[in-house]
Amino acid sequence: MLNLFRFIFVALGFQQVTASVYNTFDGEGSPSCYNVTEVHNATSVDHIVSLVKDAKSKGLQVRAAAKGHMWYDTQCSDDETMIIRTEFVNGIHDFDLDAGTVTIEAGVTFFQLSAWLHERGANIGTGLVNWNISIGGCVAMGAHRTSLRNDAVVVGGVRKLDIIDGNGEIRTVEKDEDNDEWLAASTSLGLLGVIARLQLSIYPETKVWARQEILDEADVIGGNLTDLIAPYETANLWWWPYKKKFHWRYYDSVPANESDQEGFQSTFSVTELEANTAKALLDSGKFFPSSNWLAEEIFFGQWEAPNFRDKRTNEPIKEFPVYGWNYDVLIGGLYPDQKPVWEYGLKGYTLELAFPMTRANEMLKRVRGLFDAEAKKLRFMSATYRSGINIKFGKAHFDFLGQVTTGTADGEDWSQGAIMFDFPSYRPSIGDQKRYNEEFYINLANTLIDEFTCRPHWTKNTRDVLQRASKHIDPSYLARFKAVKDKFDPTGLYRSVVGEILGLYD
Ligand SMILES: Cc1cc2nc3c(=O)[nH]c(=O)nc-3n(C[C@H](O)[C@H](O)[C@H](O)COP(=O)(O)OP(=O)(O)OC[C@H]3O[C@@H](n4cnc5c(N)ncnc54)[C@H](O)[C@@H]3O)c2cc1C
Ligand SMILES: *[C@@H]1O[C@H](CO)[C@@H](O)[C@H](O)[C@H]1NC(C)=O
Ligand SMILES: *[C@@H]1O[C@H](CO)[C@@H](O)[C@H](O)[C@H]1NC(C)=O
Ligand SMILES: *[C@@H]1O[C@H](CO)[C@@H](O)[C@H](O)[C@H]1NC(C)=O
Ligand SMILES: *[C@@H]1O[C@H](CO)[C@@H](O)[C@H](O)[C@H]1NC(C)=O
Ligand SMILES: *[C@@H]1O[C@H](CO)[C@@H](O)[C@H](O)[C@H]1NC(C)=O
Repeated sequence: MLNLFRFIFVALGFQQVTASVYNTFDGEGSPSCYNVTEVHNATSVDHIVSLVKDAKSKGLQVRAAAKGHMWYDTQCSDDETMIIRTEFVNGIHDFDLDAGTVTIEAGVTFFQLSAWLHERGANIGTGLVNWNISIGGCVAMGAHRTSLRNDAVVVGGVRKLDIIDGNGEIRTVEKDEDNDEWLAASTSLGLLGVIARLQLSIYPETKVWARQEILDEADVIGGNLTDLIAPYETANLWWWPYKKKFHWRYYDSVPANESDQEGFQSTFSVTELEANTAKALLDSGKFFPSSNWLAEEIFFGQWEAPNFRDKRTNEPIKEFPVYGWNYDVLIGGLYPDQKPVWEYGLKGYTLELAFPMTRANEMLKRVRGLFDAEAKKLRFMSATYRSGINIKFGKAHFDFLGQVTTGTADGEDWSQGAIMFDFPSYRPSIGDQKRYNEEFYINLANTLIDEFTCRPHWTKNTRDVLQRASKHIDPSYLARFKAVKDKFDPTGLYRSVVGEILGLYD
């Protein structure tokens, strides 16, 4: 029938719809989908519902899109797809600080919600990821901050989800660990449908301090990582492998009257001069590793000073501890006179895998071993990202497809939480855009996946990495996820490459 319509359209001289590529936040040359025939800026939840029904009637696949803060071509399937952008579906409703809840729509971002809540004396706690990212997109893909003491996964703060299923009907799923629908919806990969509304937990606004210290690599790799991270509200490590050092960053709450400083963090802001310098240096690092060593040296030096300004004056804050409001310190955003690195054309690759805390030392030691093996071949590798290699942590959170879930049949003890190895690297803007010693990165990923039980981050890995790591996903959890998916989306309207790799459409 569809083909007949197409035939008639063509026969009548109508232009056939051409598919186009949809890109990640890195823009042109960084595809997230290859076969997009329609892109819509939805303006309400009802509008999303009608678009979904329209796509279904036209035989198109559907994927939601928010801020594109994903890294690879894994958003859609490779079949013809309608993209529904959620940016303008961003209402915030039913604020109730006494009950500790607020309801947001699909496209609400962290910085939008935090500003709105701050004005009303509230925050969403530690389930934060980054400033210009949608909370719906983060919950869909299992995104997380870094904490062993508090919930690190964004979904840890979700009480209820409204999902537009494969028939365009809205289904409400409430948090309930005894309900398979919740355990699937908690990390759904967008395969159950579009998350249209989220009810979130909120708390009275707090102030937070941030501290940072430099640690020797050997002390971290051979040390007790739980003791470094678990005591704090949120904490992480940045690894500088060429310098053999870590930055250890940790945060906790303080009474609001402890300091009147209003620190505001920026992880991504740079000036044009800084961006151009880094780009020239790192592009040459494709051929001359000494440029990468120098880059790591410079980035390390920059990272030592607090990446904070006082929000009121825009003056740099020169020493730790830094104090400020919850979101401003934990995330912050951009400085008014600067832009994020990617807007100056600095692009990245990344890899993120989660391992059980019980094997944290072993994993870091293995990575060091891989660096040393290169050094023996006189290929000294370094971090080529301005914040080094990010080592994050996640408190256990039970659901089917989350990176930090527990109770799996793999024989590992995930109950003590997970350590994430998040290795961003510079993507040269020249030639084939491959990195210096590209094989090292591929071998590193393959070695970790084959030698350790680990779980991929769902938007920070290539198709190859997802494919290779899929063997570590618990088969009984996958089967239970699939049963819910088949109920919500029997025809596979929301199918993606990730869902295909997991065998959910076989
Ligand atoms: C610079 C940077 C830093 C990051 N830091 C972290 C981090 O610290 N921790 C972490 O865990 N992740 C991190 N990420 C990854 C990021 O959190 C996820 O990729 C997140 O899904 C991006 O959300 P988005 O709103 O930009 O959605 P998009 O990138 O537009 O979409 C991502 C995926 O979610 C689906 N989706 C989006 N909205 C919905 C919806 N409403 N319903 C159903 N499906 C939906 C899309 O179809 C797509 O498959 C980072 C990414 C970048 C680029
Ligand atoms: C959707 O909104 C974006 C702005 O966020 C704009 O760039 C784009 O052109 C809009 N697309 C359509 C189809 O209106
Ligand atoms: C957030 O992202 C959008 C693109 O979706 C961009 O237009 C906007 O400038 C960004 N805002 C900030 C504050 O970075
Ligand atoms: C787009 O999808 C259609 C089927 O939906 C397929 O026939 C076609 O080959 C795809 N094109 C690309 C570029 O993947
Ligand atoms: C780290 O120390 C804690 C006590 O603070 C202990 O329970 C845990 O077993 C230690 N972990 C390792 C890997 O030694
Ligand atoms: C902060 O306020 C509390 C009461 O709310 C008080 O006990 C404490 O002394 C105050 N601290 C400072 C540093 O003013």
